[in-house]
Amino acid sequence: MKTALSFDDVLLVPGYNDIKSRSDVTLETYVAGVDLHLPIIAANMPSVCEADMAIALADAGGMGIVHRMQSIKSQCDQVIAASMHRSVGGAIGIGNDWKVRAETLIGAHASIICLDVAHGHQQRVMEVALEFLDSYKLPLIIGNVATGHSARHFASEINDLDHSRVALKVGVGGGSVCTTRIKTGFGVPTLQSVMDVYEVLDDLNSDISIIADGGVKCSGDIVKALASGADAVMLGSLLAGTREAPGDVIKDDKTGLKYKVYRGAASYGAKKAHFGEAEYVEGAERLVPYKGSVDKTLHTLADGIKSGLTYCGVDNLTDLLDEAEFIRITEAGYKESLPHGIYGA
Ligand code: XMP
Repeated sequence: MKTALSFDDVLLVPGYNDIKSRSDVTLETYVAGVDLHLPIIAANMPSVCEADMAIALADAGGMGIVHRMQSIKSQCDQVIAASMHRSVGGAIGIGNDWKVRAETLIGAHASIICLDVAHGHQQRVMEVALEFLDSYKLPLIIGNVATGHSARHFASEINDLDHSRVALKVGVGGGSVCTTRIKTGFGVPTLQSVMDVYEVLDDLNSDISIIADGGVKCSGDIVKALASGADAVMLGSLLAGTREAPGDVIKDDKTGLKYKVYRGAASYGAKKAHFGEAEYVEGAERLVPYKGSVDKTLHTLADGIKSGLTYCGVDNLTDLLDEAEFIRITEAGYKESLPHGIYGA
């Protein structure tokens, strides 16, 4: 049985650094040919990415994918608003209306379309992806997949010329509000999925990009994902609770503390709001502390990633991938990595 590694199972080994300052580090990256200055993509979830979040991400050099659990008109209005700030994506499904939604999003100046399916390694996703790439010129994110085998399958079916405008969204069951692994028993730790998918695509010399999705808890996890072959990360929890995340601020009158709701896209609340019913759910929902402007969060994450690159002694993401050396750590090593007690002499 293969061992699969998660973010907390590994660390990156510090290398010789001749970079003078974090400000000399660039975080420029390409996702399916879309040029980003920050390797962060807001998750296509109803409690994460609508117009305000997409605009904030675009302004910060990243990108938001506006979710599809709303009418085509409402989604497209949000994409239009964000498209005026440089990149923005729109999510589509594989239902009968996928073409109408895709074409309306293209008309709304989406920079990229995200084919959003929880288990993306399936026949219908393959059919829609191939038809999309054949019919339109826009880049396409295909998700979610978890294995090297799925990457090889998509890479072999997609015309070589189209590889550079395709990204695979990699991660199944690792999200902070996912219950897929509990409900079904299936999933692969996100870091392992990224490593496996990267190994296959690198072996094939394919230009397909990789987006690590699910379970990213801190900037250190982002650096680990990028060092394993991801071109960008998709974030839900880290952006939830910010001012730009959809939903009202909830105030606890007793404590004065403020919160927002973060919902899995397949949670009871998200399904009920969109479909009017929620027979089967595969996601959790919870209150998260209100964090204020997402800009602050994005700056803190960007600083952490840049600092990470200087620990590797590199000033860009391509060199990080080339130079990074991972070690597997023990439980004692993991405990030592966390803030811990100050002991007496
Ligand atoms: P984080 O850890 O950043 O993860 O909060 C965000 C990702 O979680 C996935 N997602 C779900 N997975 N049930 C699931 O099993 C859900 O209801 C659900 N909603 C989101 C998705 O890949 C997202 O980008």
